[in-house]
Amino acid sequence: MASNTTEDLFKNIISHSKEYGFIFQSSEIYDGLSAVYDYGQNGVELKKNIREYWWKSMVQMHDNIVGIDAAIFYASYYLKASGHVDAFNDPLVDNKDSKKRYRADVLIEDHVAKIDAKITKEVEKARQRFGESFNEEQYRSTNPRVMEYQQKIDAINTRFKAALEANDLVEVKQIILDLEIVCPISGTRNWTDVRQFNLMFNTQLGSVSEESSTIYLRPETAQGIFVNFLNVQKTGRMKIPFGIAQTGKAFRNEIVARQFIFRMREFEQMEMQFFVRPGTEDEWYTHWKEKRMTWHRSLGFPLNKQRFHDHLKLAHYAKAACDIEFEFPFGFKELEGIHSRSDFDLRNHEEFSGKKQQYFDPELNENYIPYVVETSIGLDRMFLAIMSQSYVEEKLEDGSERVVLRIPPFLAPIKCAILPLMKKDGLPEKASEIFDKLKFDFIVTSEEKDSIGKRYRRQDAIGTPYCITVDHQTLEDNTVTIRDRDTMAQERISIDEVQRILREKVDVNTALRKL
Ligand code: GAP
Repeated sequence: MASNTTEDLFKNIISHSKEYGFIFQSSEIYDGLSAVYDYGQNGVELKKNIREYWWKSMVQMHDNIVGIDAAIFYASYYLKASGHVDAFNDPLVDNKDSKKRYRADVLIEDHVAKIDAKITKEVEKARQRFGESFNEEQYRSTNPRVMEYQQKIDAINTRFKAALEANDLVEVKQIILDLEIVCPISGTRNWTDVRQFNLMFNTQLGSVSEESSTIYLRPETAQGIFVNFLNVQKTGRMKIPFGIAQTGKAFRNEIVARQFIFRMREFEQMEMQFFVRPGTEDEWYTHWKEKRMTWHRSLGFPLNKQRFHDHLKLAHYAKAACDIEFEFPFGFKELEGIHSRSDFDLRNHEEFSGKKQQYFDPELNENYIPYVVETSIGLDRMFLAIMSQSYVEEKLEDGSERVVLRIPPFLAPIKCAILPLMKKDGLPEKASEIFDKLKFDFIVTSEEKDSIGKRYRRQDAIGTPYCITVDHQTLEDNTVTIRDRDTMAQERISIDEVQRILREKVDVNTALRKL
């Protein structure tokens, strides 16, 4: 089905993800676990490649960043220290008619986003009208309609921020009522009171109930880095500023778990804590904001797909925070967070554990608790960003249609498909020879079934950047055709050249060099 609306597009991306082995609903045969997903044969490769690109760009490319892999179970006392037991809450509100539950902050933010979208529309209209000479900044600060919208946004944000800071949930409900926000399902304003809801999953460690203790599945990977800060610093003889990176699962009992893999209850994070001298954190915060945006831009997606968004509501640990937002089919949403966390975490771990969490700075000749700037990106969200940006429904010159995933080649699950034109005359054997040659360097596949056209379409649909066709001429002169996924152009090359050409085209280092 062609995507006529962004809603259709999102639905099509979800079904495409399932049909082509990227993402399955978890426990599907038992009707599925809500907001939990499994990655299929192609999804696992794409996910691994994104993780690897992040890891290389953070760890391999920096001689002052190292990685760790900490446990998923967190002892309750260290989440008490980090503030998660007391403060890792979302404000929730129920609509009494639809019985649907919402995050109160998301309802208000979505309302603000709608006003913001009106501003964007005005700005785009003006841009078209004025052409080259358009000055967006000036327009935003002088156009009466835009200014009125902006004042509305500012007023809501100021009031909402004050309510959150005072933990005034009655006021949060009043804001929802005053803004006349309705439940998207029932269309009514019949809301319950707003309540706080802790997002962590807990379980018991130990088999005898009297002796067991409550532990948590980590809600973020970051705390595993903080509690290992001194282990790594001492054993690695790290000098400040330095970073510790980690990728791995995190768990949150999300209230509103919709939008496919955007908000999951079990998900994966890629985080880096950068430990700096107190007083230099603002400089490093700016540094990492820019670095991370460059990383996103290196994927070659249109520049207007990403933007910064400063946090209105700071997490309990943050001194300053912003998101890198991506324009998903359902609008601009958070993809990555960059947070200046001060010495909040290490100071609390020092207090709760009774163990000093200090660094001796040889240049200053003094001990201090370092400040931390964190970059934190959701791997699954990044996956969704790439899928939604890469998914293209194309009408071809001959009137036929194809769906192609224009995944950056170095991230594609399969780099090359080897396709014998026919299932006879020694062509499959030649294809398997080529497979055996390439398999040491790349994930490649070989396919014999169906017409060559159908096989090309299948490879386009999973984003395979190159297809090599083995035909009768191959047996005569040791050449094959190589087809480019995006242009569909074919070129005849010697088999001896295949490895070199593929390496040039799918090499992750080309992207790393742009960082
Ligand atoms: N250590 C900081 C931290 O965890 P966060 O903003 O709560 O910060 C960081 O999360 C990133 O993790 C988000 O930008 C998002 O990409 C991802 N993330 C958070 N909750 C998620 C969820 N329920 N499902 C998928 N990804 C999530």
